[in-house]
Amino acid sequence: MWAPTLIAALVTLGYTRASDNKFPDGFLMGCGTASYQVEGAWNEDGKGENIWDHMFHEHPEYGTNGDNGDVACDSYHKYKEDVQMLKALNVDVYRFSISWPRILPTGDVDIINQPGIDYYNKLINELLDNGIQPMVTMYHWDLPQALQYIGGWTNGLMADYFVEYARVLFENFGDRVKWWITFNEPAMVVKGYASKDRAPSQPAPGVGDYLAAHTLLRAHGRVYRLYHQQYRAAQNGSVGISLDVQGSAPLTNSTEDVVAADRYQQFEAGHFAHPIFSQEGDYPAIMRQRVDANSKREGRPRSRLPIFTPEEVKYIRGAADFFGLNHYWTDFVTDEVNATSPSKAGDTGATAVRNGLHSWGFRNILNWIVNEYPGYSIFVTENGVETSTGLNDIDRIQYYKEYLTELQQAVNIDKVPVIGYIAWSLMDNLEWTEGFTRKFGLYEVDFNSPNRTRTAKDSAAFMAKIFLSKKVPEDDGCLS
Ligand SMILES: *[C@@H]1O[C@H](CO)[C@@H](O)[C@H](O)[C@H]1NC(C)=O
Ligand SMILES: *[C@@H]1O[C@H](CO)[C@@H](O)[C@H](O)[C@H]1NC(C)=O
Ligand SMILES: *[C@@H]1O[C@H](CO)[C@@H](O)[C@H](O)[C@H]1NC(C)=O
Ligand SMILES: *[C@@H]1O[C@H](CO)[C@@H](O)[C@H](O)[C@H]1NC(C)=O
Repeated sequence: MWAPTLIAALVTLGYTRASDNKFPDGFLMGCGTASYQVEGAWNEDGKGENIWDHMFHEHPEYGTNGDNGDVACDSYHKYKEDVQMLKALNVDVYRFSISWPRILPTGDVDIINQPGIDYYNKLINELLDNGIQPMVTMYHWDLPQALQYIGGWTNGLMADYFVEYARVLFENFGDRVKWWITFNEPAMVVKGYASKDRAPSQPAPGVGDYLAAHTLLRAHGRVYRLYHQQYRAAQNGSVGISLDVQGSAPLTNSTEDVVAADRYQQFEAGHFAHPIFSQEGDYPAIMRQRVDANSKREGRPRSRLPIFTPEEVKYIRGAADFFGLNHYWTDFVTDEVNATSPSKAGDTGATAVRNGLHSWGFRNILNWIVNEYPGYSIFVTENGVETSTGLNDIDRIQYYKEYLTELQQAVNIDKVPVIGYIAWSLMDNLEWTEGFTRKFGLYEVDFNSPNRTRTAKDSAAFMAKIFLSKKVPEDDGCLS
């Protein structure tokens, strides 16, 4: 009699072996976009200018073909159609971002732009009416230009402004939004303070990017604490951050390259992940050591890598309910660098000389995260591929099939606690300085038509099946 009882007990406890090609119950799936990449309506209904509007209007040559986000996919007017596309895809979740200057045109709370609030209320309600959960990114790169005039993220006070902005979001949308992401890819955000062709286009490499990162980590920690102290009890949501973590594999099997690949990952992922997700908090020791030493060698009285107070280390450490992971490819890293000094690349002392689409890199990175930063659930908040095959995008289907197969193995075999997956992107959109030439969408958008007509690609039907069944078809090919 013990056997059926034991089996029943195991079933109750959830110990049944999931079939390897099915995601566990409750696993959330969906698609993502970002405000500047899709909304358009750049100066409508009281929206303020953002740093990308400003950069592309001043320097049209920074965008491929002079493309910019003035109209983009026109989602500001076509959001209902977007929601119908999401519904056709059977998504559980839609990840989108809120444009800070659409809500706060000056960046501060002196003016709260009601039409901006209304737009996001309409979008959120339309999603919920269609059975889709909203996942909101608070900052997907479109800083109010008014705040850039006072230094943007290099100004430590920006953390205060971000807290006030977040409060407006929790107050207005927190009754219905249960998934919050403070920042999308902070490593990319701070590149705008190290190079020219990325907003805000204020190059101070090896200085400005470290300062911006420092402010941003403090801003993230404070918003997480704000939510938990003032909103969590009533709103019961989760707050995380989306970090871009590509695979970092040694270019050769030499000891130097193996060590360099680790070091590279600490400078790329660890810069943001270590202060939040490691047991000890603060920047990775290898960063502290190398940037301090280089700064000294350069004759500086202080390190280019700013120093957290003990209080800051404490409130930033553990400031996340989940680890948001954006993953696309695997880098191959060598122990050599040609960068000029000062720069983050020079401090890293390693270079990603090439990259490739290798689905094994996805499973590897999921295991790496869970080993490096134990105790957190992972939500894959971006994964996808650019293709130029139009509507018959068999290469995108192949990519998703392989990457999702590796994800399932990580979840079902390695027991990595992944709770959801967002495909990038719902539709073709403005790929920043690369304009409309790089296409990541499940839907095609006709950027030559004033109607911005959307058409489902073959991959849309493929993903709609997976989103419904939570099963990935058996793999029958190989990208790598
Ligand atoms: C809070 O959310 C969790 C899921 O994240 C759910 O299990 C729980 O029932 C919710 N609690 C309340 C009080 O709504
Ligand atoms: C490194 O060594 C492994 C195992 O010997 C081998 O499979 C792999 O191809 C080698 N990689 C390189 C880049 O040489
Ligand atoms: C550095 O520059 C040299 C000479 O141009 C080149 O051969 C080498 O591949 C470069 N190394 C890296 C890591 O980019
Ligand atoms: C605009 O697009 C929608 C679907 O995307 C279509 O139903 C409508 O007919 C189009 N209108 C024009 C004028 O092309």
